[in-house]
Amino acid sequence: MISTKIQSVIRDIHDFPKPGIVFKDVTPIFKDAGLCLEIVDAFADQLSGLEIDVVAGVESRGFLFGLMLAAKLNVPFVPVRKPGKLPFSIVKKSYELEYGSATIEMHTDAIEPGNRVLVHDDLLATGGTAVAASELIQELGGVVAGYAFVINLDFLKGSERLREFSPNIVSLASY
Ligand code: PRP
Ligand code: MG
Repeated sequence: MISTKIQSVIRDIHDFPKPGIVFKDVTPIFKDAGLCLEIVDAFADQLSGLEIDVVAGVESRGFLFGLMLAAKLNVPFVPVRKPGKLPFSIVKKSYELEYGSATIEMHTDAIEPGNRVLVHDDLLATGGTAVAASELIQELGGVVAGYAFVINLDFLKGSERLREFSPNIVSLASY
């Protein structure tokens, strides 16, 4: 099972980046090329039947599988970036994180009005990042087609915040 494989390689880092936080370190996944391909195949499989025009991946860990998945689905990849990185005209949204606060930005021409956009990130925690990305997509005239996460920290109930945008929430491993 893909969930077992993922859970067997990711590791818990206690008190990172702040005391009391148990950080899920996904970097060992990226050392296993076969597992990376399996993850992309599992996403494509679980998303089959869903109409997707664009994959939006969230900086920085959402870039890694985001482009792979977009290539697999044969659709454009667009980056959702941290502030001050995108060179063209942008829209931006600030939000609260599990620890601290953050801002994300997208290019105003990242998506076309009416595009059905899949939001990808490595991990769903409180959902603040994915909600902010969803709001930017809607601001640009897009429709949130669904979400694809490698890991869902289910106990933080992030998915409940995403259902108002789309009921299509795929995650490959949950805690
Ligand atoms: C982590 C993770 C998600 C986000 C999830 O990113 O990669 O992007 O937090 O949290 P949320 O559901 O509570 O919003 P982080 O901000 O640590 O940055 P990184 O991906 O650049 O490492
Ligand atoms: Mg991230």
